[in-house]
Parts: sequence; C-alpha cells; structure tokens
Amino acid sequence: MNDGKHFFGSPETERKLNCLRQYLAAYSVALQNKNFARMYIDAFAGTGSRTETKAVLPFMGEGEASLIEVTTPGSARIALGVKPEFHSVVLIEKDPLHVAALRSAVSEYPGSRAHVREGDANEIVQKICQRYDWHKERMRGVVFLDPYGMEVRWDTVEAIAGTEALDCWYFFPLSGLYRNAPKDPTKLDQSKIDALNRVFGTASWRDEWYEKSDAQTDMFGGLIEDERRTFDVNRIEDWVGKRLSTVFKGAVLKPLRLHHANGAPMASLFFAVSNPHKAAVRLAKEIAGHILNAGISSQVRPR
Ligand SMILES: C[S@@+](CC[C@H](N)C(=O)[O-])C[C@H]1O[C@@H](n2cnc3c(N)ncnc32)[C@H](O)[C@@H]1O
Repeated sequence: MNDGKHFFGSPETERKLNCLRQYLAAYSVALQNKNFARMYIDAFAGTGSRTETKAVLPFMGEGEASLIEVTTPGSARIALGVKPEFHSVVLIEKDPLHVAALRSAVSEYPGSRAHVREGDANEIVQKICQRYDWHKERMRGVVFLDPYGMEVRWDTVEAIAGTEALDCWYFFPLSGLYRNAPKDPTKLDQSKIDALNRVFGTASWRDEWYEKSDAQTDMFGGLIEDERRTFDVNRIEDWVGKRLSTVFKGAVLKPLRLHHANGAPMASLFFAVSNPHKAAVRLAKEIAGHILNAGISSQVRPR
C-alpha cells in the first residue's frame, strides 16, 4: 500500500476480477427467488480498490510517453455493488491499513449488510464455516480466496468444502509453488516442505512430482542417482485440481491461468462447488463454466 493505494497483480489481474464480477452478478440473480440467504466471503479482501501503473504512448508521435496510475474496483467493491445485494458480505483482512480502507469503502454503500473482520483469513473463514448449519438455515454463498501467495491452509479449504453450501473461487499461486518446489530436490529445505504441506494438507506431492532417473555409474564405478521434479506447470495445475476434487464433492472446473508481465505463469483461478446436489452443481457449473471457458478461449498465451 502506497499513499492509500493498493498495487497488486499483473496486467492480467482484471481478467480474474471479471470472472468474479460476472459470477457474483449471475449467482445473485439466479438465487434471488429461491428463499436462500446469500453470503459472500472475501477472505483476502485488500482495500476495496486496485491501482496499477499504465504506460501512455505518445499520440501520433506527438509528446512523450508517460506513466499514469489507474484505480479500479477490487473484489470487495465488486461484491458490494452486486444487485440484488447479498444478504451478508464478510470482508476479511489482516493488514490494519487495508482494514481502514475497507471500512471507508463499506461506508460508501449505505444499507449494505457488510462486515469487515480484522484478522487471519484461515481462522475467520473456518469459524464462519463451522458456525452455521448451512442447509438447515437455508444459507448459500460464495468464497473468494485471493492470497498474495501460499497463505491459504488446507484445513481452510476443507472447512469451505465441508459446508456443502459454498462455491469457491481460489486464485491458486503457481509461482509460490515453483519457489517452494525447486527442480533440484536438494534445494528443498524444511520451510519449503512445510509451506507445501500446509497448502495441500498432504506430503504426497514430494513422491509424485519428483522422479529418480535410472542409476548411472560414475568414472570410479560408484552409482549416481539423479532426482528431479518431473512435473511441469501443466501437470502441477492438474494435480492441484485433483487435490481440490478430493474435498469438493460438487465439481472442480478447469482453471483460468494468469501470467506475470514477463509471461511466467502466476496463478490459476479455480472454481469449486462444495454442494453435491445435482441442481446446485448444474447451476454453478453452467454459470462458472461459461465464464471460465470464455476466459480460457480468449487467452493469448499458449498453455
Ligand atoms: C492479492 S491481495 C487481495 C486483493 C483483493 N482480493 C482485491 O481484489 O482487491 C491479498 C490481500 O490479503 C491480505 N492478507 C495476506 N495474508 C492474510 C491473512 N493471513 N489473512 C487475511 N488477509 C491476509 C493482504 O494484506 C492483501 O490485502
């Protein structure tokens, strides 16, 4: 945060927010006459806005190139603007400066049933998931997990899936995975292993992503075994989808991958449905599938 401005993401971040914007709008309309209380939980809510620096090129060769700052709604403001409104909007944020900005954003939407909760997203999301009997209380909702990196713990993912009432958009940090799972496993230290285990709730990635090559003999007749991560970004992304499917009983859709400005994969936007009932799965898949497919087919970079 700089002068109250929240700079984050890449030139592609707007595509992620567009998926959320379209889903929340369609979801709210689809459920409005179904007698459910609709909740939106923004677990990493930010400030409510996003600022990016854009280059402005000279017009017809006149003048000089310059940089301008452009501020647009972030996930929290997008949710606050959804019509028909959610019955409750929970905005969770750890950074006190971001919390203050969120409170000020909420005050611009008089009558909205939004609460800002200051603290750790994992703890607060888990408490909310466990507080309600979602089906008995006829509650449905959407959770957005939009961390900077590897902050989402697997027990939080399990808690969301366990409600069988929440749909989840999870912006899964591929670049965090690379950093923590180097090709050469001798560079895996305990903190990296712990980070991956926390995010996945299992250590099985260690055996599945890495492979030993056939032993070779060195010039002195000794055996050399070389071990490498053989999973590339596509296989890792598929693996993440399968891991999410172990707890989300409704569906996990093919994600939309976003990139850093230099073209390196940044994160994949997954959509997962916790509700196992046919009608709920069909509705969620119809809306989110359409949004994700449109995003994937307009992707400029090859997978
Ligand atoms: C990528 S930004 C979220 C952007 C936001 N979704 C938007 O569209 O405007 C990640 C946010 O998560 C917050 N954060 C990081 N760790 C957190 C945690 N453990 N609990 C709650 N918030 C956290 C950061 O302060 C930051 O504001």
